[in-house]
Amino acid sequence: MKRDLISIEDLSEKHLRDYLELGRRVDDMSPEACRQILAGKILGVLFYEPSTRTRLSFEAAMLRMGGQVIGFSEALNTSVAKGESLADTIHTVEQYCDAIVIRHPREGAARLAAEVSRVPVINAGDGANQHPTQTLLDLYTLQNLFARIDGLRVSLVGDLKYSRTVHSLFHALSKFKDVRFTFVSPETLKMPEYVIEAIEGAKVDVKETTSLEEAIADSDVVYMTRIQRERFPDPIEYEKVKDTYRLDCAALRNAPEHLKVLHPLPRVNEIATEVDATRHAAYFPQAGYGMIMRQGILAHLLGAKI
Ligand code: NCD
Repeated sequence: MKRDLISIEDLSEKHLRDYLELGRRVDDMSPEACRQILAGKILGVLFYEPSTRTRLSFEAAMLRMGGQVIGFSEALNTSVAKGESLADTIHTVEQYCDAIVIRHPREGAARLAAEVSRVPVINAGDGANQHPTQTLLDLYTLQNLFARIDGLRVSLVGDLKYSRTVHSLFHALSKFKDVRFTFVSPETLKMPEYVIEAIEGAKVDVKETTSLEEAIADSDVVYMTRIQRERFPDPIEYEKVKDTYRLDCAALRNAPEHLKVLHPLPRVNEIATEVDATRHAAYFPQAGYGMIMRQGILAHLLGAKI
């Protein structure tokens, strides 16, 4: 059966731990051995929304494993501009490649693509819904920083309503043992009920606050997010909340020594650049782990042995 990666909800704790192990194996490989893994394979990369890290790390992952890449990042230069349906685009691209990575502004678009495609489909973000490969790289980052995920105290900060990265991450972390959460957001950008309800039966320990400093003092990990301006139906609502949180060195005054700050990036102004040089900043190494994890994901979905 063809394998897809559409939602973190489709993965068990065992799947998540297997992916972490896969990342570790990729990390331990020599560049020469790596270049054989997907030799002769072609990845189709369809980006209907802006991206820097996700697209480039997928492309770099494919190239490092000896594969090649085709695709677009400006859908309006393609037949989409002529009115082609997503299903027809997928039926076409699957003729040319062995797997498809898709980012799309509409929730459910990746699931639809997977349903109609005969090659594996990977969701690189569908609207405000899910971003499973980001979550796998976030977990891999945590595993590398702390040598564990169980028992971590994690604050999720910023736009919890529209950030697909925290929807996926919260779901995944709830499958590990004794992870404690603090949700930090403005009142209007709280974690949606449907995301909390999706964690069937799992008992999760969640505190809510609007104070970033309070959360920092009590965390191992602070996961910052950008306020997702493009998802707001009303620009005036965005203006009201856009500068709510700014993590700077003063805000880190009472941080535990070992606290790490993560961010899927891009940042706008929610982390001051002065934080970059502190021991707390982990967001650029996090972006680096993205390529490693995506090598593991591509190898796995394409049935290659690592
Ligand atoms: C995120 C996304 O696209 O959801 N970026 C990413 O993939 N690293 C976060 C964001 O855009 O704020």
